[in-house]
Amino acid sequence: MPLDPPGQGITLLVALYRAGPWEAQAGILAAISVLALVAGASLLTARRQVRRRVKAEQALRTEYAFRQAMEDSLTVGMRARDLSGRVTYVNSAFCQMVGFEAETLIGQDPPMPYWVPEDYERTQAVHDAVLAGTPYPSGFELRFQRRTGERFDALIYEAPLIDADGKHTGWMGSFVDITARKRAEESQRQQQEMLQQNARLITMGEMASTLAHELNQPLSAITSYATGSLNRLQASGGDAELERALTKLTVQARRAGTIIRRIHDFVRKREPQLTACALPEIAQDALGFLAAEARKLGVAIHADLPDDLPLVRADRILIEQVILNLARNALEAMAAVPRGQRSLWLSAEALEDRVEVRVRDSGPGVAAAQQETLFSAFFTTKPDGMGMGLNICRSLIEFHQGRLWYEPAPDRGGLFIFTLPRAPTETPDREKAA
Ligand SMILES: Nc1ncnc2c1ncn2[C@@H]1O[C@H](COP(=O)(O)OP(=O)(O)O)[C@@H](O)[C@H]1O
Ligand SMILES: [Mg+2]
Repeated sequence: MPLDPPGQGITLLVALYRAGPWEAQAGILAAISVLALVAGASLLTARRQVRRRVKAEQALRTEYAFRQAMEDSLTVGMRARDLSGRVTYVNSAFCQMVGFEAETLIGQDPPMPYWVPEDYERTQAVHDAVLAGTPYPSGFELRFQRRTGERFDALIYEAPLIDADGKHTGWMGSFVDITARKRAEESQRQQQEMLQQNARLITMGEMASTLAHELNQPLSAITSYATGSLNRLQASGGDAELERALTKLTVQARRAGTIIRRIHDFVRKREPQLTACALPEIAQDALGFLAAEARKLGVAIHADLPDDLPLVRADRILIEQVILNLARNALEAMAAVPRGQRSLWLSAEALEDRVEVRVRDSGPGVAAAQQETLFSAFFTTKPDGMGMGLNICRSLIEFHQGRLWYEPAPDRGGLFIFTLPRAPTETPDREKAA
């Protein structure tokens, strides 16, 4: 039977009431009434309190469910850390992003299991900077990895966590997965680049067609005049020196014709003859053509072309043209440099999957404002320049799946760098021909 002290008290009083004289009975009656009133009142208060508590609990449960739903619907990953950098909270979006359970992450100290090994140092540096209070008002980007090893890029914002007493207790970070956005940006950039490359090829095609058309005639004329003169010279007894000069003239005129035809063919059919070539040979050929001009201008040529350079996949004639163009630009750039200080460096170096060629001069270099437009069609600073040289060079190199760009030389002067892919097989074309 449950204990009921007020009930037992009342039973006792009723017994007394029945036994005593009527005054006592009246006193007892009054006491009973007061007791009943007090009991009733406290019963009411207790009921009200219970109701209030049930209501508060219900409100709390609703609030909790609301917060949980809100948290679960977030696609932004949230992660809180204490002042030492230990993880104190992660939401489900964060767990999904990195592929680890909340139980694994909470309580973890850095390095975190989702840090990318090759980016450890940078990630650690940013982590330390955040803990030291460095503000990143526009957020920062880091690369992480999921549990599966898949990489992703995240944009992160960190805000200080302040408790109810106004004390700084840690940091709350929000993580947005921007991998898809970055991929889209990259593909847009590549598309833009391809469009520009096509535009360059079209301009170049038009130029080359015009040039081939315009130059073919005078070049044929030069060849036939030279041959005619040579014949007459030989018939009239001859002059060995003049004959040599005229023969060279014919060879060069024919060569000019070949170059124009090749470039014309390239832009029309876009089928350069790609073979495995030794770059030092191509470079030496190009320098050979410039030797006389360089001597006349007092330019010292320094070539650093290692013999054991891997073969490149290229069209010899076209690459020779690129080197010639870059070197000729270099010679022209040094016109205002005092003789004795004019130098041209040509070097090549093997990199992982490509060969890098550098053409450097001791000229004034290119002004920062012009470095962007340098490769645009018709950009020239020369009174009689055509401004197509670098534009065509870039198209030719890009056609070879390489890159051509400008950098200011370390001390002073201009530096053009281009890359060519290594040839897949290491058989030079001259060996194949033999
Ligand atoms: N080595 C260099 N040093 C400084 N400026 C250069 C160099 N090479 C090219 N340039 C600049 O780039 C411009 C474009 O070169 P290019 O396309 O070959 O056309 P062009 O030689 O007909 O002017 C040149 O007019 C010059 O201003
Ligand atoms: Mg030029």
